[in-house]
Amino acid sequence: MNQIAPIDASAAVAAFVSSQENKEQLRFLTCGSVDDGKSTLIGRLLYDSKLIFEDQLQALEKDSRRHGTVGEDIDLALLVDGLEAEREQGITIDVAYRFFSTDKRRFIVADTPGHEQYTRNMATGASTADLAILLVDARKGLLTQTRRHAFIASLLGVRHLVLAVNKIDLVDYSQQVFDEISAEFASLAASFDFESATAIPMSARFGDNVTSVSENLSWFQGPTLLAHLETVPLAAEQSSQAFRLPVQWVNRPNLDFRGFSGTVSGGTIRVGDEVAVASSGKTSQVARLVTMDGDRQSAAPGEAVTVTLADEIDISRGDVLAHAQHRPEVSDQLAAHLIWMSEAPLFPGRSYLLKCGSSTVTAQVSEIKHKIDVNSSQHLAGKQLELNEIAFCNLSLSKSIAFDPYEANRETGSFILIDRMSNETVAAGLIWFGLQRASNVHLQSLNISKAERAAQKGQKSAALWFTGLSGAGKSTIANALESKLHALGAHSYLLDGDNIRHGLNRDLGFAEADRVENIRRVSETAKLFVDAGLITLVSFISPFKAERRQAREKFEDGEFIEIHVATPFETCAQRDPKGLYAKAKAGEITNFTGLDSPYEVPEAAELVLDTSSKSPEMLADEIIGYLREKQIIL
Ligand code: ADX
Repeated sequence: MNQIAPIDASAAVAAFVSSQENKEQLRFLTCGSVDDGKSTLIGRLLYDSKLIFEDQLQALEKDSRRHGTVGEDIDLALLVDGLEAEREQGITIDVAYRFFSTDKRRFIVADTPGHEQYTRNMATGASTADLAILLVDARKGLLTQTRRHAFIASLLGVRHLVLAVNKIDLVDYSQQVFDEISAEFASLAASFDFESATAIPMSARFGDNVTSVSENLSWFQGPTLLAHLETVPLAAEQSSQAFRLPVQWVNRPNLDFRGFSGTVSGGTIRVGDEVAVASSGKTSQVARLVTMDGDRQSAAPGEAVTVTLADEIDISRGDVLAHAQHRPEVSDQLAAHLIWMSEAPLFPGRSYLLKCGSSTVTAQVSEIKHKIDVNSSQHLAGKQLELNEIAFCNLSLSKSIAFDPYEANRETGSFILIDRMSNETVAAGLIWFGLQRASNVHLQSLNISKAERAAQKGQKSAALWFTGLSGAGKSTIANALESKLHALGAHSYLLDGDNIRHGLNRDLGFAEADRVENIRRVSETAKLFVDAGLITLVSFISPFKAERRQAREKFEDGEFIEIHVATPFETCAQRDPKGLYAKAKAGEITNFTGLDSPYEVPEAAELVLDTSSKSPEMLADEIIGYLREKQIIL
């Protein structure tokens, strides 16, 4: 599983931070490819700041003589690449953090791979960074990916941008080359909202202008890279932020103690403060702040505390504690940027787990408002999202969550999406605002219940979900079954794919995104029919596990009966009742299930029907037997 957030939980970061407690700290990330000299640049910073251990240095000198690409000099890239290899053995995160310090500041560098497809790694590194260094080769100038990196840095709220114009030695330390690149960079940066954007010429290999001023660049009036890193203004202290404590767990060792534990993710909390629970709005005063080292009077961002309150109020895991005057937003509809990080595309309507702070809910993208071409910042229309694409979306959550806009708090304003089957982290999200649309639409309770409606018909309601390839015999069996049910006096309705596609779903085709929506709509429809007390037959290919599962979850236990009509592909293709297989094989139909669009076989269907040895009538009788056994019909 990809470890995306929380981003900086590693013990190494904590140890470094505590050892350097009193210095200012700048977090930055480097973007660029190995060819641009990124490893050499980071190596140079680490080397010149003398934070490399003596034995590492000796090894480096030896290695450089053996593998190095720079003659007798020490190849600094080997240092970083060596660390890289070490890291790869126990890959937990895709971003390497490196630490160094000078007299003025301590630095945490997130080193992210620069290749186009590594957007997600960059997103991981940038989400906590104050500054981003975009590295370019002076011979090549700005590349498409430079614009892409600037875009992501800006989206993630990085405040300062540095263009490191590296390998200036290879253009004879030419001021003209630098001026041209620098002018282009200025106009690129102007299209974003950075607080500062600074271009600096340098040669990481020879050390020109990285940590010390270079005579070769005497025409350059600006600072060295390190001097810039030491002086760029830092963000105001986090304590000016509103206080937030996402509750990780409710700590109740005995009846006399009830504490709410979590890590402060913004602002400062003090004993006696008036706090509110975001979800319920209930308020109380902080009685105690308990930590591993005893009680405290206050707690600041990043600190783990257990809060006890003056009053008994209901709080559970996932709730957020905040100062009563500065509460987070609460909504089940979000407008957010999504950075899609999975090989499998995102389809609106498919359900994912959304994890924001300590709360996890299910969520669907209800609409892709627009995709963003990160190379041109243009908005594009799109029905699905592919690996590394970024889009502005509306999301609909199964339950309200407390959050802040990302601009106000990078922790409570971001989330990840997790695939429900593979547990893979598939997206990072940045929340802009909650949509209040849904909050004024309340569920109206009906006087007559589902059970009463069904009882009047002398049956229990159920959804009989037929899934299988085109031509498998789903509709034939469903039709035969419905005739038998009718004859038995049961009340039913058959929702058939081909028919629904002529009406309700006439706007949908057979691309994956359309099929996802097709099944979402028909499962909602089936739910209404079931609520009306009917035995509802649904006959759709419904090729994807995710949507069948999502359909199942709409129903009560025992109500959803998945029936896999398991006719093999070859048999369906041979029967070819509608001549579609022939057409698909001839290339006249695309996205045909079983050919160029997948069918994911059900693993735990209630019934699996074998059409090779039994007639539709026999199979319908089999289902009748099942319905009797479950007392759906008598
Ligand atoms: S589903 O995949 O979205 O569940 P659905 O059951 O609604 O499919 O529709 C399937 C029916 O559409 C098939 O029985 C067939 O008659 C017709 N059809 C037309 N094109 C395709 C295609 N590319 N793939 C599968 N079925 C198709």
